[in-house]
Amino acid sequence: MMKKIFITRELAGNAETFLSQKGFKVNVFQKDRAIKKSELLKEAADADALITLLTDKIDRKIIDSLPKCKIIANCAVGYNNIDVEYAKSKKIVVTNTPEILTDATADLTVALILACARRLGEGEKMMREGRFKSWKPQLLLGIELTGKTVGIIGAGRIGFAAAKRLKPFGTKIIYFDRNRREKFENELGAKKVTLNSLLKKADIISIHLPLSKETHHLLDKTNLKLMNRNAVLVNTSRGEIIDEKFLISLLQKKKIFAAGFDVYEGEPNINPDLIKLKNVFLLPHIGSATYEARSGMAMLCAKNVASVLSGKKPVTPV
Ligand code: DGY
Repeated sequence: MMKKIFITRELAGNAETFLSQKGFKVNVFQKDRAIKKSELLKEAADADALITLLTDKIDRKIIDSLPKCKIIANCAVGYNNIDVEYAKSKKIVVTNTPEILTDATADLTVALILACARRLGEGEKMMREGRFKSWKPQLLLGIELTGKTVGIIGAGRIGFAAAKRLKPFGTKIIYFDRNRREKFENELGAKKVTLNSLLKKADIISIHLPLSKETHHLLDKTNLKLMNRNAVLVNTSRGEIIDEKFLISLLQKKKIFAAGFDVYEGEPNINPDLIKLKNVFLLPHIGSATYEARSGMAMLCAKNVASVLSGKKPVTPV
């Protein structure tokens, strides 16, 4: 009997072909939208493996409906959409896609920082709306990176790759993390600081944390207001790490210079107040959206699935 793999949405690259050539039966959800829970319950019921996305909430009910499933391969580095402990208790392996998307996400972080610091969103909108009438000395003045302090919140792989890109702009790096990160200190001359001290000192703040109970609203009413008036804050990790409503109130009162969002609380719904603001730059969760990263992520999922279904160890277990 051919083993069945269910993929919750069409992926980039050649992962499906790879799996079919290995002799697996691959079913892909055919609609171009996130699969609904009721559809997932129906479609995945007899699957031996699932390839899921961050838009699929894999909770106890879903896990209980997968009697044959050996592996849930999440096509993302983050896995907050999966009840990992429960899956493990049911002897289901969970995997994610670390490393392959590090460069793509770090590139986008820098793009978001520059877009905020140099007001690229406002400039682009002005051009499209035909409002550029002449060069003028005070048109869309922004902030330079040279000489500024960059604060990295979450000093893992992506945080490091972002900091490494930002250092040559002539910035000083500080970081906040549970652990001491020697790579940050030895290669970038970075100093570990407390979260409050980072928020007070940094001109550019970038978040690179996984979402968990501990990091939910880590940036809240009490500490967000420590940021300085010229601070730029960007988030390419998960929206729920910031108390978004409170951040919006700071942006409305111009208490910081700007914020760049690739992720949102309650994604894909966007707080309408955010859209009204000029001092934000908004992206639709595209941190890892390069051909290289997305096809690599899909292939890594396929390799994890092929390994586990052949009785071998997963490549990148959670
Ligand atoms: C992830 O992998 O967790 C990103 O948010 C999407 O690639």
